[in-house]
Amino acid sequence: MEDNGTYKILFVCLGNICRSPAAEGIMRHIVRKYNLEHCFHLDSAGTYGGHAGELPDRRMRSAAAARGYLLEHRAQRFKESMFAQFDLIVAMDDSNYYDLQSMAPSLDDEKKIVRMADYCRHYTATHVPDPYYEGAEGFQLVLNLLEDACEGLLAELGYVK
Ligand code: 4NP
Repeated sequence: MEDNGTYKILFVCLGNICRSPAAEGIMRHIVRKYNLEHCFHLDSAGTYGGHAGELPDRRMRSAAAARGYLLEHRAQRFKESMFAQFDLIVAMDDSNYYDLQSMAPSLDDEKKIVRMADYCRHYTATHVPDPYYEGAEGFQLVLNLLEDACEGLLAELGYVK
């Protein structure tokens, strides 16, 4: 679905307080860097709604801020209606991926679901690991993977090299 000339991307993880709001914030930053703001509508959501309304986890916000990313998203639970609202739904891990697949109303909607790690060009990864119960290095790894994958996704979509 494309309207108003914008391509709509939704990043999805479990709680929507660590990985997916970081993916959204990093993508906003990169899109701004390439003067492509008018091309995209970006958002994020979680398959679990227990943190709805919250800002991203303090550890994630702090690690992201140190790299220049301001994370201001408020957590929201993924809803089936989001399939109709977005062109691409980007899952952080296999659990998110299969949860989303099970909610897809149609085959066309299922095809919108992709894995974030598949867009990494420098790192070799199958998923973006949940940092919630990890130490500081878990958050650094998430940011490294997301920076790589966001650039790779923009290239895959044909906006940059
Ligand atoms: P996220 O991390 O899915 O990257 O936002 C998590 C946040 C919260 C929980 C699990 C993962 N939790 O169980 O509350």
